[in-house]
Amino acid sequence: MSSKMFFFQTDEYLFPMNSNIVLIGFMGCGKSSIGRRLAKRMNYGFLDSDDLIIARAQGTSISQLFAEEGEERFRDRETAELRELVDAKNILLATGGGAILREENRELLHRIGRIVWLHADPEILFERASRNNKRPLLNVENPRRSFNALLESRIPIYEAISDIQIDATGLPHEQTIEAIIRALELNGDEKTGFEPSRE
Ligand code: S3P
Repeated sequence: MSSKMFFFQTDEYLFPMNSNIVLIGFMGCGKSSIGRRLAKRMNYGFLDSDDLIIARAQGTSISQLFAEEGEERFRDRETAELRELVDAKNILLATGGGAILREENRELLHRIGRIVWLHADPEILFERASRNNKRPLLNVENPRRSFNALLESRIPIYEAISDIQIDATGLPHEQTIEAIIRALELNGDEKTGFEPSRE
């Protein structure tokens, strides 16, 4: 049996089209908006784990699910959606910020695709994440304290499970997308960080 290799070409880069892409990162890092644009650019299908959960819950919002069922049940829903995606092809999956918490999820994410951690300066993350009240974990009495505690506990996990790490601090979306594409191109099995120029 011959094994054919397909390559994906953007305007400037060629890279093998044999893997999905999974975006991970803290609330507010831009996974959904950057992911949507990157998927379009790569001609990949775009999926967002929160949107999948909402759709399966007949439009119930994440805040409502947290309020009605609690976080554990929300995490069960998250795991269930990830299980559905292990055989997906040519997708870019944006995950909820806590999708990396369960061991099972981490294994599932690795099976789904190459994991890209989108990071940014904490001040930027906090400002973006707390812009609206759609994030129940920050809809608490002292959001800043919760934010700090969550971020601190999660950074080592994002770092450990990601194949590629992108610091998007100060970068417009288009440049972040370029940085991801460039890092995907450079990335073999090694962990890769691509340092874009910041004028
Ligand atoms: C969560 C992040 C949210 C959403 C839920 C829980 C988290 O997704 O899944 O509110 O635990 O960090 P975003 O990262 O897209 O905001």
